[in-house]
Amino acid sequence: MRSPEWDAFTARVRESSDILRVVGAYVSLKQKGNNYWACCPFHNEKTPSFSVSPDKGLFYCFGCHAGGDVFKFISMIENVNYGEAIKLQAERLGIPLPSRKRDAKEIARDQKIADMQKVMAMARDFFHSCLVNTRYGVSGLKYLHGRGINDDTIKNFALGFAPNSFEKLKNAFMKRGISEQLLLDCGLIKRRQDGSGTYDTFRNRVMIPIADEMSRVVAFGGRVMDDALPKYLNSPETMIFNKRKMLFGLDRAKKAIGNEKYAILVEGYMDAISLSSAGVKNVVASLGTAFTVEHARKILRHAPEVCFCYDSDEAGQKATIRALSIIRATGAKVRVLVVPDGKDPDEFIRRHGADAFKELAKNALSVPDFEINYALSHNDIRTMDGKTNVLHAMIPVIAASNTIEKLDLIERLSRVLSIEDGIIKQELSHYRGADAGSYAESSVRKRKLVRSVDDAVMKAGRVVVRVAWDDVGTLAHISSLVPIDEFPVATHCEILKYIMACDEKGEKYDESSAMANLSEEAASELSRILTDDFAGELPRDIYDKCAKVIYLTYLKMLYEEHRIKADELEKQGKSDEALRELDESRQIFDKINRIKETRNG
Ligand code: UTP
Ligand code: MN
Repeated sequence: MRSPEWDAFTARVRESSDILRVVGAYVSLKQKGNNYWACCPFHNEKTPSFSVSPDKGLFYCFGCHAGGDVFKFISMIENVNYGEAIKLQAERLGIPLPSRKRDAKEIARDQKIADMQKVMAMARDFFHSCLVNTRYGVSGLKYLHGRGINDDTIKNFALGFAPNSFEKLKNAFMKRGISEQLLLDCGLIKRRQDGSGTYDTFRNRVMIPIADEMSRVVAFGGRVMDDALPKYLNSPETMIFNKRKMLFGLDRAKKAIGNEKYAILVEGYMDAISLSSAGVKNVVASLGTAFTVEHARKILRHAPEVCFCYDSDEAGQKATIRALSIIRATGAKVRVLVVPDGKDPDEFIRRHGADAFKELAKNALSVPDFEINYALSHNDIRTMDGKTNVLHAMIPVIAASNTIEKLDLIERLSRVLSIEDGIIKQELSHYRGADAGSYAESSVRKRKLVRSVDDAVMKAGRVVVRVAWDDVGTLAHISSLVPIDEFPVATHCEILKYIMACDEKGEKYDESSAMANLSEEAASELSRILTDDFAGELPRDIYDKCAKVIYLTYLKMLYEEHRIKADELEKQGKSDEALRELDESRQIFDKINRIKETRNG
């Protein structure tokens, strides 16, 4: 999308946009000093912590840390991506899209995509016809009927059958003038390993067409009819098929999702087909891949709530926990449904019917309830380790809940684990300072605890980042003290690396390029840093003091690491190596003291 025309267009839309008017259309802003304040539209709150700085054209919420420029705001509130937000705003302002002159390469690419879409639609019809009209499909029909899938559903989902042959599809399509290359590009045929020719990818499988949001077929899933492996063979990723972004069934479910105001997310094709056929239409499946932020965004464009309904086996429950940690950052409303009878929603609905399922959906668990159940059933809380694990699993959940839930959760957890609520609150404040991403992963927890930072370090980091942003020359100084990768705050580390990368490539960086390139957390932290008035002090003036704070924090981290290492080595009986680590830590300790002295002196 980046081209000089697009950049000029973006700049023009930005100049014509008044961030106060844009934001003001969604929340009511009150002026206080240079900034404007409101209750944050991205999380629940009663007192305003959401601020807009018209001078800088940025917004930031001190409660949920959402932040960015005017386009970021639109993208978040309208649930569209950054580029789409620019276009949306242009539309509102009546600014025409740049008429891009497409070059030969782009024209060829578009043509290719159109050709692939045509061939995939042909393949859907071919497989479907094989299933319902030919003798090849007999075993496929028998299989589907045996699973309780009736002819209406077969027709509705255009289910098909791939004949048990290495070239039925290839021959049929090439006879109709489709090139071998195009079939390869679509993933419908494969090249033999020894290079001698090609053969049909899907053979002797029941075929499920996978369509994009506009109902264009982009891939297939093919199921075996016995216990052979792989159970499902899927199309390879192609120009038109990206698994990470694909949600099976979204094209036919989106209307129902909008009406019901929530989407049910299942793991399998068959779950989605089963539920949808039984009348539970607001259902999509994530195709067995791990849940991604892209998936979340796709759903949230149609409704603010997601109900996870993965398989009830251990793998499904674990995948749910992972998905919850991913969707947490989006601010979506989330519930979890665990089917009580059967391995997955497909089995449940076949046994108990749609009404029973709808009743379950109505009573789906809240995220904290699900997480607490999961943590308690996977740990022995009579042991110290078990207690710690449960506590660490629940901290991110507590941190993400609203004030009332929070108090309730802390109270519950303290009762269940029989630990004082003060300990939970303390962990909670550690968590807020540390980078949230991998807090609960036990392998890094030790390090994260060392790395968790207090307010002073956070503030110092912000000053250092701000000075580096204003004058890239200072990056050399700070990186001579602390390797950028080891910067104590993860978001600061990411921003500094971004500045450094731009600088090395000789590219200029600005707010909008940073917003488009940084992770969500880093982008909002940067907005905060750029709007911060540092309590009236000039960042440049307090830079030396702040750089020293960061340096000391880094040294303390190093010190702790050597100490932990020494402990471990000692336990393994490697005394010599342990001594060396201790010596190292001793030297760092001395260094820390020397630096502290110069600070006081
Ligand atoms: P499941 O094994 O739970 O599939 O995998 P399912 O839909 O319940 O299948 P049935 O009911 O036994 O027919 C969940 C999803 O993971 C992907 C598919 O998208 C499947 O729907 N998957 C699974 C694969 O891509 N390949 C496999 O070999 C297995
Ligand atoms: Mn399943």
